[in-house]
Amino acid sequence: MTDDVLASQLDYYRRRAAEYDATAYGDLEAARARIERIVGDFAPSGAVLEVACGTGMWTQALAGAAETVTALDAAPETIAIARERVRADNVTFEVADVFSWATTARFDVIFFSAWLSHVPAERFGEFWRILRGLLAEGGRALFVDEPAEIRDKETYVPGADGIVERRLNDGSTYRIVKNFIDPERLEQQLRDLGWTVRLRRDPAEWVWICGDAMPR
Ligand SMILES: C[S@@+](CC[C@H](N)C(=O)[O-])C[C@H]1O[C@@H](n2cnc3c(N)ncnc32)[C@H](O)[C@@H]1O
Repeated sequence: MTDDVLASQLDYYRRRAAEYDATAYGDLEAARARIERIVGDFAPSGAVLEVACGTGMWTQALAGAAETVTALDAAPETIAIARERVRADNVTFEVADVFSWATTARFDVIFFSAWLSHVPAERFGEFWRILRGLLAEGGRALFVDEPAEIRDKETYVPGADGIVERRLNDGSTYRIVKNFIDPERLEQQLRDLGWTVRLRRDPAEWVWICGDAMPR
């Protein structure tokens, strides 16, 4: 079930790639300004891994702050757009599934935007174990995602916890995972997995939770 929904979710993002920026961000200039500000507040440095980089909107800002950025996404279609967008010499793109990516590299920062809410509850612990293995000594995970208070914008599949139905412009529908962030619950989950975490609400018109987590 989990593997099926992860496959459907990836299929959805592959097919959505060309319409993603318009439907996810709308006004790209305004989005860029907010992203620059949030990334500036996080102050990432050193070797950064971006998980699920999508079309590269955040990659661009990360590239301006970090020494190197490895930007990973399982959808070749989104990576193709990101490659066009981000021409920086310090960025390397990887088409890979974060759950099976094999590397000996270690990172000072692992960043992900709008990804944690797409991790199935059954894979949550595995995902954070993978991150722990990819972090260099003293490294941290930085992330942004959407809080539970806006969950009504999704159409939940009855009886399927955390699964929503999404529709593309051509009318095709897909089942994907969407676990909005409940800050208190997430803090507890991460503490239980051995992480120190600070969450804050971004004050901008986007309703986002920003997280900064370190393994204990
Ligand atoms: C909501 S989008 C976020 C994109 C980008 N981070 C942003 O905020 O604009 C989720 C991304 O996760 C990617 N993705 C889906 N399954 C993945 C997997 N197993 N491993 C890595 N990336 C995956 C999708 O291709 C998509 O680009």
